[in-house]
Amino acid sequence: MLHASLTADPARTVGPVHRRTFGSFVEHMGRCVYTGIYEPGHPTADADGFRGDVAELVRELGVTTVRYPGGNFLSGYRWEDGIGPKENRPVRRDLAWHSLETNQFGIDEFMTWCRRLDIEPMMAVNLGTRGLQEALDVLEYANHPNGTHLSDQRVANGHPQPHNVRMWCLGNEMDGPWQIGNLGARSYGRKAAQVAGAMRMADRDLELVACGSSNSGMPTFGSWENDVLEETYDLIDHISLHAYYQEHDGDLGSFLASVVDMDHFIDSITATADAVGARLRNNKKIQLSFDEWNVWYQTDHHAAAAAQATDDWRIAPRVIEDRYNVADAVVVGNMLISLLRHSDRVTAACQAQLANVIAPIMTEPEGPAWRQTIFHPFAHTARTAAGSVLHTELETSTYETERHGRAPVSDAVLTHDLEHGTATLYAVNRSTEQPLTLAADLRALVPSSVTEARVLAETDPYAVNTMAEPDKVTLREAKDTTLEEGHLTTVLPPISWTAITFTTGV
Ligand code: AHR
Repeated sequence: MLHASLTADPARTVGPVHRRTFGSFVEHMGRCVYTGIYEPGHPTADADGFRGDVAELVRELGVTTVRYPGGNFLSGYRWEDGIGPKENRPVRRDLAWHSLETNQFGIDEFMTWCRRLDIEPMMAVNLGTRGLQEALDVLEYANHPNGTHLSDQRVANGHPQPHNVRMWCLGNEMDGPWQIGNLGARSYGRKAAQVAGAMRMADRDLELVACGSSNSGMPTFGSWENDVLEETYDLIDHISLHAYYQEHDGDLGSFLASVVDMDHFIDSITATADAVGARLRNNKKIQLSFDEWNVWYQTDHHAAAAAQATDDWRIAPRVIEDRYNVADAVVVGNMLISLLRHSDRVTAACQAQLANVIAPIMTEPEGPAWRQTIFHPFAHTARTAAGSVLHTELETSTYETERHGRAPVSDAVLTHDLEHGTATLYAVNRSTEQPLTLAADLRALVPSSVTEARVLAETDPYAVNTMAEPDKVTLREAKDTTLEEGHLTTVLPPISWTAITFTTGV
C-alpha cells in the first residue's frame, strides 16, 4: 500500500476559486455546434433549435464561460456570414477542418444560447484572414447599444440589448504553421497591440487575451510569449495557454503524470510574463487564460486528416470524436487540480470542447445525449469548488516515468468555502497497481463531518461510456474514508480521482 500525507492551513490561500476556471469551448468544428448544441428538428430542440437534452447536461456540467467560435476555424471566419435571416446566409468552405460551414448558427444564436444557460460568452476575433477593421466591426455589432450602423443591424436581427461581451481573444494559435495567416511573434504582437488599442478606444474595460504558444512543444515556446508580451503588455490582460495530453504507445504511467508537464508549463509562462513586466518596469500582472485544455488522442487525428481526400467537403462531419476512458477522466480531474492550484495566476480556463469534438458530452443526431467519463470530475469540481484555494503540503512517494522523469504518485488540492463552512479535497492516485492511503491533517480547518465522498475508479482503466452503456463509468461513493479529530484518511484506488467534501469550523 502506498502512502501520502497532506496538511493545509486556512490562513495560507493561493487565490480565489475563479468561476471562469470552469469554462468550455464551442468551435465550429465537426459536430460541436451542428447536432451538438444546435439541432433544429431534434425531439428535445426548442424554438431556436437548441437541443434541450444537451442544454440540461451543460447545466449539470457546471460550465461558466464558453469560448467561441474557434479555434482554428476562427482564422478563416467572417462573422457577418452568421447574422440575419438564415435563408440568406452563405455556405462557405472551412479550410481549417476541411468542411462546409452553413452559417445557420452565428454570433446571435450563440449569445442567445449562452444567456439561456447563464453562461458568460468569451469571443475571439479573426486575426488570420482578417484584422483591425473586422475586430472593431464585430465589437460594435456585439456590444454597442444602438444608433450605429452595425448595432442597429443587431437590433433589426431581433437583439435589442447589446450582448456585452467582456472577454475577447485576439486570434487563435497564431504561432502554428497550421493556422491560416500565422505570423511570427513580433508581427503578431504588433497586430494584436493595434487591435487591442483600437478595441479599448471603443470600450476601455474589455478583457483582452493575447495568443501564447499553441503548446509547450512549439520551437518558439517561451520566446514567443516574451516577444508578444513585449509588444502588448499594457494593452492586454491575459496570455493564452493550450495543452492536450494523450497516452502514447501504452505508456500509461507517463500519461497519468501529464500534470507534471502542465504545472511546469504554467510556472514557465508565469515566470516569462513576470520577467517581461520587470524589464518594462511595469507592476501589472498578466493573467493566464488556459483556454484550451483536455485529453486528445492527437496522433489518431493527424493520421485521419492525412488520409482525408481533398475533394471531400462535408457539413458537420464526425471529427475527433474521442471516446474517453477511466484513465482519461483521472487525467482530466488532475488537470483541474492543477488549474485550481494555480488560481493566483490562471484566472480563466476552457476545456476543449463542449459537445462531440473531444468533449464531455456526446450526442447522436436525432438521438440521445450522454456523459463521457471526463464529464464526471469536471461537473463535480465545478459544483463543489468554492471560496479559496489553500496552499497544501503533500508528501508522497514518486515513480519513474518515461516522459516526465520521477513523478509524484499522488496529487491533491483543497478548496475552502469560508462563507458556507465547507471544504473539498481533490486527489488522484497515479499508480497503475497499488492503492494509496492519503492521510490529511486538517485540524487547522476544524473539520466536523464528511458530507460527500466520491471516487472515479474502475477495475478496467480503459472502460468507456457509450450510447448503449452511458453510465458504465460514473462517480461512486468513496467508502474507505474516515474523519477523526481533524485527521481525514481515505484510500485512493489505483488510477483514481477522488473528491471529499467536509464541513469546517472556520
Ligand atoms: O480544439 C481543437 C483545436 O485544437 C483548435 O481548433 C485549435 O485551436 C487547437 O489546435
